[in-house]
Amino acid sequence: KIPVIIDTDPGMDDAIAIFLAFSSDKLDIKALTTVAGNIPLERTTRNALDLVRYIEAETKVAQGAHRPLIKTLETAEWVHGNTGLGTLILPESPNDVYYKKAWNTIYEEAQACDGKLQLICLGPLTNIAITLMVHPDIKDKIEKITLMGGSSYLGNTTPSAEFNIYVDAEAADIVFKSGIPITMVTLDATNKSIVKENEIREICSIESRVSSAVKELLYFNADFRKRSSGLDGAIIHDALAVATVIEPDIIEKGNYHVGIETEGKLTYGRTVIDMERVTKNNPNAEVSLGLDREKFVEMFKDMMKAYI
Ligand code: BDR
Ligand code: CA
Repeated sequence: KIPVIIDTDPGMDDAIAIFLAFSSDKLDIKALTTVAGNIPLERTTRNALDLVRYIEAETKVAQGAHRPLIKTLETAEWVHGNTGLGTLILPESPNDVYYKKAWNTIYEEAQACDGKLQLICLGPLTNIAITLMVHPDIKDKIEKITLMGGSSYLGNTTPSAEFNIYVDAEAADIVFKSGIPITMVTLDATNKSIVKENEIREICSIESRVSSAVKELLYFNADFRKRSSGLDGAIIHDALAVATVIEPDIIEKGNYHVGIETEGKLTYGRTVIDMERVTKNNPNAEVSLGLDREKFVEMFKDMMKAYI
């Protein structure tokens, strides 16, 4: 099993990504670490605790940064609803957060895993940047970071920037310069990962312990997509990052140098991918630009079956 920590800001697509991760027998999930992003930290942490409890998992939840390194926090309730989970209401978990902060939890687990720990990052990269600053030797103790973030040119928050990178571009800059191997699951790939309406129906017809939550989340997302872009289906960005760790071949990828724009007035948070290799910079990331969509949809069905 691959030892992983999931750094997350749940967030409705984070919630499904978390369900998918716990459904896999290929992952050994050591902790969830929470960050402010889609909604403020207090609520992402509440949601993480409740989601873990809902699926009866035994993982610790460690709290991280309540704001980006430099910028003020910009949230996305307009996508995820005020609680972050759309219309889904979960029973409140009686469990408390882990006594260590996210960056100390990541360091602790990295040491315990002897260089084999992988990080799956589903929100702004603030916690990972702080870990690198507080524990600089962490860079030799993490096998790989797979993150949902960035794009080759599209933005979903500004015309140039994807949300997770835009919220804390300074943190992303630190992470991309760290030397830790990175797999970047971009909007280019996730926008093609649409789960169509008939497929949502099929997935939701599989009766399992998570059926009602998955149904609520997928239909909330599909409704949002229809209203915002006229699409027929759900786009669950973060689930593709988790799927990539479980089945690396699910994405089409290439190795490129990726720089993070932290100064541009119009382009703050843009991931500048040297696709034509016009600089002499060595690649620092494996970049996904496409995916095997059918396989992704199959993984949702397998997820449901794992919770029967
Ligand atoms: C990313 O931003 C958030 O709104 C989602 O949870 C996902 O991590 C997509 O740009
Ligand atoms: Ca997220």
